[in-house]
Amino acid sequence: MLNGRKAVRTLPVYHPPLSGRNGLRLDFNENTVGCSPRVLARLRQIGVEELARYPEREPVEAVVAGYLKVKPEELLLTNGVDEAIHLICETYLEPDDEVLIVVPTFSMYEIFARAPGTRIINIPAGVNFSYPTHTILRHITPATRLIAIANPNNPTGAAALEEELMLVARSAPNAAVLVDEAYFEFHGHTLLGKWRELPNLFVAHTFSKAYGLAGLRAGVLMGDAQQMSAVRRVASPYNVNSVALACLPEALEDEAYVAHYVNEVCDGRERLQRELQNLGIPFWPSRANFVLMRMGEANAGFVQAMRDRGILVRDRSRDPGCEGCVRITLGSLEQTDRLLAVLREVLPKIGVTVQEVRP
Ligand SMILES: Cc1ncc(COP(=O)(O)O)c(C=O)c1O
Repeated sequence: MLNGRKAVRTLPVYHPPLSGRNGLRLDFNENTVGCSPRVLARLRQIGVEELARYPEREPVEAVVAGYLKVKPEELLLTNGVDEAIHLICETYLEPDDEVLIVVPTFSMYEIFARAPGTRIINIPAGVNFSYPTHTILRHITPATRLIAIANPNNPTGAAALEEELMLVARSAPNAAVLVDEAYFEFHGHTLLGKWRELPNLFVAHTFSKAYGLAGLRAGVLMGDAQQMSAVRRVASPYNVNSVALACLPEALEDEAYVAHYVNEVCDGRERLQRELQNLGIPFWPSRANFVLMRMGEANAGFVQAMRDRGILVRDRSRDPGCEGCVRITLGSLEQTDRLLAVLREVLPKIGVTVQEVRP
């Protein structure tokens, strides 16, 4: 009988609850209002010829590189950041290499990094989910080949400082240090270009969040030109489809659309955090388009009560250190109004009182 590799057979299954997502989707950190109308206009123009041809990535890579002010040879368009993570693992990891991951975090790091038979070292986040720089430094060994960092982190919303990330990258020159900035637009800080000081550093961005294009699957992996030429060797020349390639320049052109959405999300984040503070519900200040809060034992009831009122939120209580926690994505101004109204209605109904939810 044919069996998958041992490393694959022992992989945890990542099965995000994707079915039956009707209502206001505040559960997957997506853009909740959709992409720029310019992208839709371009989509409508796509004809048979464009679909019949294999996609040509390079001209669009030049546009994206120009926009991000990096050299085209420092950048690879990918099938979402998910593929960027996979390619880094394919390029650098051998069985028995060590991979450092701070938990809780985005599940795909472990899934892609574990498949080659590496040793995953999960390092718990520090106090209030802070980035545990010194613990990481203590775990770096000659076998460390990958350190994956979501900055800001998902699901906590916490962000590490540039100096901390640079110190980690400097301390592990034989490891690929992947700084995943999927939520960059809501945070505003980036390590773009820093690979010119530290060629083991990679930065990833995505069009799935602020740009509203999660369904197109488009991300960007960037790093030192020589390292990126190694990564390109394991990528399919057709990894990003023609529809996505046609839309990306339009999405980038409409800066005002994305800026407006990001502003509304960041305002909503402040409003939700203020509300949680007033209600005495513990939460972690976020730098991304979501907030993680602790509902305690009322968590499951809360998620269901929100769903019953047409708002999907994500139960994160199985993530390490997140017992009783739920993550809520922010969207437009009107959506935040609705979220806050439903929140005020739901909490008394599920018997949440200030005392019960305080840690
Ligand atoms: C930290 C982080 N990285 C990457 C992704 C996935 O990005 P993409 O849609 O570009 O594959 C997510 C999605 O939730 C995420 O939270």
